[in-house]
Amino acid sequence: MENILEVKDLNISFDTYAGKVQAIRGVNFNLKPGETLAIVGESGSGKSVTSRSIMRLLANNANIEKGEILFKGEDIVKKSEKEMRSIRGSEIAMIFQDPMTSLNPTQKIGKQIAEPILKHQNVSKKEAYERAEELLGLVGIPNPKKRMDQFPHQFSGGQRQRIVIAIALGCNPDILIADEPTTALDVTIQAQILELMKELQKKIKTSIIFITHDLGVVANVADRVAVMYAGKIVEVGSVDEVFYNPQHPYTWGLLSSMPTLETEGELYAIPGTPPDLLNPPKGDAFAPRSEYAMKIDTMEEPPFFKVSDTHYAATWLLHPDAPEVTPPAGIVERQKGYRARVLDVQPSEGLKEMSSQDAEDHLRQTDSELSPDEIATRKDKEGETVYHGSIL
Ligand SMILES: Nc1ncnc2c1ncn2[C@@H]1O[C@H](COP(=O)(O)OP(=O)(O)OP(=O)(O)O)[C@@H](O)[C@H]1O
Ligand SMILES: [Mg+2]
Repeated sequence: MENILEVKDLNISFDTYAGKVQAIRGVNFNLKPGETLAIVGESGSGKSVTSRSIMRLLANNANIEKGEILFKGEDIVKKSEKEMRSIRGSEIAMIFQDPMTSLNPTQKIGKQIAEPILKHQNVSKKEAYERAEELLGLVGIPNPKKRMDQFPHQFSGGQRQRIVIAIALGCNPDILIADEPTTALDVTIQAQILELMKELQKKIKTSIIFITHDLGVVANVADRVAVMYAGKIVEVGSVDEVFYNPQHPYTWGLLSSMPTLETEGELYAIPGTPPDLLNPPKGDAFAPRSEYAMKIDTMEEPPFFKVSDTHYAATWLLHPDAPEVTPPAGIVERQKGYRARVLDVQPSEGLKEMSSQDAEDHLRQTDSELSPDEIATRKDKEGETVYHGSIL
């Protein structure tokens, strides 16, 4: 099916007193009609800037340096502000993190839902209010007729987010962008809102871009996942591929830091902090935090390697000459299950479970002069960084 959205080589910087912040550094992705794409990544990775650029709602100090954002084949980057005003809210709608900031506290809910419909669609006032009432019911607000006349403060936090969703859906947008729509809500309400979005997706078939730093919610809502790090997408694939056959060490880290039912004791946290985007590092930006980094990671940016027709990851580990590494134990478990289930590879073939002795032997073969421990932990030795191996 044709893509409703194609983002090509998007580069966005922000002018600041300290210099240019390279917030988005060559982002590419597509969105198909009716699909839900989740964009995940740590704080500051560029999720909001990417989504705001699609609405052309960037801060004044932003520059779209390069790239295209093709919506139904037309470049959003080149549209005038007037053209954008008619697209925003009608063809592409956005739900923000905090419902209170999106609602006007002094206006009745009914009016707030009906107004954009009146503005963008060729309907009478009566029809717009009828549609608003219908939408309130659709997003699960009981007794919508009566509640149309109430103000935002008369609703709970979860209900307010439902209302924001109703407003966004008012004009049947082709794309709905939800930027962390549940982070301000408590866990039970979060689950209800996610369930609502899933149901609505089935009913109205809007394409959804769902942004979150919580990988835990992604499997439930999305068809595909794009993992962002330091202004780039580092891995993209179906939910199944990214969750059960992840390839990028950053994705491994994200998945390992996700609590599961079996989690005991302290949760894993990815060491270190994201790079300073005023001076983005050369090569793979995740390398300084990765115990799987190779020398080439600090020198050259990894291209996207194809894992399947729908799965790509930008890591040198996928280069045919890269030394074989064993992902963290939890990831190996995931991959084993995936291989047996999807690729029909039995555990003895392909990915074998390495005992720690195997792993040490493997590392010894990689570089005989160094003890396995030194390589594995990527310690600095006399000022020199020690890597897993080199493919240069
Ligand atoms: N107006 C601005 N001026 C300068 N830098 C900015 C501006 N807006 C965003 N940035 C920078 O762009 C980068 C990406 O920010 P973005 O808001 O997209 O992150 P995010 O992935 O949405 O994070 P979070 O999970 O915290 O919402 C950050 O380094 C941020 O500091
Ligand atoms: Mg954000």
